[in-house]
Amino acid sequence: MKRTVILVLIGFLVWACANTDAANTTENKKTELKMAEWSELALLMRDIHKDAKSWRKAIDNGTFEQDSIAIYKLLVESKPTDEDVEGPVFEGFAQNYQMALDSLMLSKNIDLAKAKYNNLVTACITCHQTYCPGPVKTIRKLYFPEG
Ligand code: HEC
Repeated sequence: MKRTVILVLIGFLVWACANTDAANTTENKKTELKMAEWSELALLMRDIHKDAKSWRKAIDNGTFEQDSIAIYKLLVESKPTDEDVEGPVFEGFAQNYQMALDSLMLSKNIDLAKAKYNNLVTACITCHQTYCPGPVKTIRKLYFPEG
């Protein structure tokens, strides 16, 4: 009886390891594929995401510094993964993002910056809901809690 239990246990362990190995390899392959396939726009988005996180931190620490950033042209001129990501609607969202960014950079105090920063996150999400819904959940985490 005891032996059977041990055998079953060993069997399970071997199976489980084999399974993780298989999963790991597929995961690695997927990551490699993805890295080779990052479009200009996807790379720009990684930077934008990083920037947003660092502004959030700076606002939180009270060390936010105003800067003037031109992003509109980059947004509309970077080559996307999906060629349908272009045209007047996309340009409108890009413009909206630039405006949210300008008004964040003009905010005169931390409370205002917090509100403007949240508007900026909304501008990310508005474009994403139409063009790239996948990361919306991640982007939502950038919000400062209301109030
Ligand atoms: C004008 C539209 C637009 C705005 C504004 C926008 N995004 Fe994106 N985002 C996209 C599109 C389209 C993609 C898909 C890019 C591709 O694969 O070519 C994308 C991709 C991403 C990705 C995935 C990148 C990857 O690793 O493949 C993240 C994360 C992201 N955006 C975060 C943000 C954040 C954070 C903001 C705001 C601070 C933002 N985006 C603003 C359109 C937008």
